[in-house]
Amino acid sequence: MAFPVHRMRRLRATESLRSLVRETHLAPSQFVLPLFVCTGDGVRREIGAMPGNYQLSIDELVKECAEAVSLGIGGVILFGIPESKDEQASGAYAAGGIVQRAVAAIKRETPKLVVITDVCNCEYTSHGHCGKVVDGDVDNDATLEWLAASAVSHARAGADIVAPSDMMDGRVAAIRRALDQNGFPNTPILSYAAKFASVFYGPFREAAESAPQFGDRRSYQMDPANAREAMREIELDLEEGADMVMIKPAMPYLDLIRMARDRFDVPLAAYQVSGEFSMIAAAARNGWLDRERAMLESLTSIRRAGAGVILTYFAKDAARLL
Ligand code: PBG
Repeated sequence: MAFPVHRMRRLRATESLRSLVRETHLAPSQFVLPLFVCTGDGVRREIGAMPGNYQLSIDELVKECAEAVSLGIGGVILFGIPESKDEQASGAYAAGGIVQRAVAAIKRETPKLVVITDVCNCEYTSHGHCGKVVDGDVDNDATLEWLAASAVSHARAGADIVAPSDMMDGRVAAIRRALDQNGFPNTPILSYAAKFASVFYGPFREAAESAPQFGDRRSYQMDPANAREAMREIELDLEEGADMVMIKPAMPYLDLIRMARDRFDVPLAAYQVSGEFSMIAAAARNGWLDRERAMLESLTSIRRAGAGVILTYFAKDAARLL
């Protein structure tokens, strides 16, 4: 009895009809733009594998943030490229560190823009690992002190949200405790709860100059094969006090975004990472894909899967189209 009574094409006939029955909508206010901040003045250095993305000195970063505000973008997330790196990741938690100074400058110029800071050590360690290396491996508990100190220094500089991305166990609890003890009980934590050891971070490591100098990150980032473990990571981070959680990368993990959306009633973010961006950018440059449509379709899929917040290098371009 279905056909010819039911004809799905009826409601697809015009853009007005399609728009009327559209289930999923994108809004610039739900995008977070990742930005890379470096030392110097007037620096705007394009990242080879991420066309249209730059390492920016603070003066240029502030301009980029003003543009983000004018486009209605929900927030920015900052990654720092320090002048020098060491075994102790001291640049990560220094009061005068690059991210700390950048946050203060942004908050001065565009106080309403939500500034999220990535809390991690890999951009600041000489070996490129996300924590303190002891006997060739990252020492979990020793690393927690660096992360807590970084989060507090970011909050002190004015960060609206801190976002640990290191994948150490117990970091959310350690950061929550440190924030509370230091007078920042109202600073939320966005935990990169389910972060996978993904090949798609490749271009980012060029951008942030953070590739590990030996080994890889598989002893702390997750195995891409594991879904149940991802739910457990999220559950534990929520127990430790995370206010929001993230799945990363996004498009290869849409099933997990949906699974998390159905299970946990907290704001859910997904990170469309550098490699996801670069694939589309490269195909578009070759004339193999329509850039705008690929961008919007990929973002729509992430939204449809259940992510309320999307971290994306397309934030500005997508906002312009919406
Ligand atoms: C830091 C960090 C990484 C990304 C975000 N935070 C790199 C990594 O874990 O190697 C990747 C983001 C991207 O690829 O766009 N730990």
